[in-house]
Amino acid sequence: MDLKSSIDLKKLPKHIAIIMDGNGRWAKKNGKPRVFGHQNGVKSVREVTEASAELGIEYLTLYAFSTENWSRPVIEVNALMGLLVETIRKELKTLNDNNIRLQAIGDLKQLPERSHKALLEGIENTKNNTRMTLVLALNYSSKWEMTQAVKGMIKDAKAGILDETTLNDGTIDKYLATKDIPDPELLIRTSGEMRISNFLLWQIAYSELYFTELFWPDFRKDDLYKAIINYQNRERRFGKISEQLSL
Ligand code: IPE
Ligand code: IPE
Ligand code: MG
Repeated sequence: MDLKSSIDLKKLPKHIAIIMDGNGRWAKKNGKPRVFGHQNGVKSVREVTEASAELGIEYLTLYAFSTENWSRPVIEVNALMGLLVETIRKELKTLNDNNIRLQAIGDLKQLPERSHKALLEGIENTKNNTRMTLVLALNYSSKWEMTQAVKGMIKDAKAGILDETTLNDGTIDKYLATKDIPDPELLIRTSGEMRISNFLLWQIAYSELYFTELFWPDFRKDDLYKAIINYQNRERRFGKISEQLSL
């Protein structure tokens, strides 16, 4: 039986988040410069976006550039920013044809002007699409996001809009960049690294984590299906014991 048909469509995660890692090592393995890895990573983005939309996943979040990634060599940062503009422009029609809405989380204003502009255009031109939301995490880090949230809360508390006696974890959700997005049930990281790298720390409190040795440019539809099947075979207990779950 093929992998896709082994997926239980009634038990799909609503939101899948992916740390797309290993482009540089993939390029090195193929005797090519790192940028070649990023270019090939775009193919995986396309495959995974298409596969997710076909299945009926509602939100797909892709970690594309972290706050920490500015420390890379300038040539690589520039190539990544250029690739972003190029990819958004090229894929806009496909996004619209497939009824996919583009969104972004991160400190977007600090992106180079051209990349920022292409991104905002992509978001604006797809805003009425309803099949799936593709969220790009760009110049994103969880600690940046949480710091912004705390600043916003202090401001609102001073203005009398927020009161600490009623503040709960749901309040904090509303101050995050992901305020309109449900928490991911499944987080995937490629390339064999077993770390979170400052990604969605608050939102993955109860996510299922899936790690694969594959480098991102090698990740294909079937690899996404494998991750979903693996997720569907887990028991999510949320602090309870197994016997309570069937009640
Ligand atoms: C992920 O691949 C892409 C980005 C972080 C932008 P890397 O570029 O981190 O590839 P490795 O981890 O060095 O192999
Ligand atoms: C995480 O990958 C960030 C993205 C995928 C955009 P990195 O390659 O930057 O992570 P570290 O530095 O190895 O943890
Ligand atoms: Mg990496």
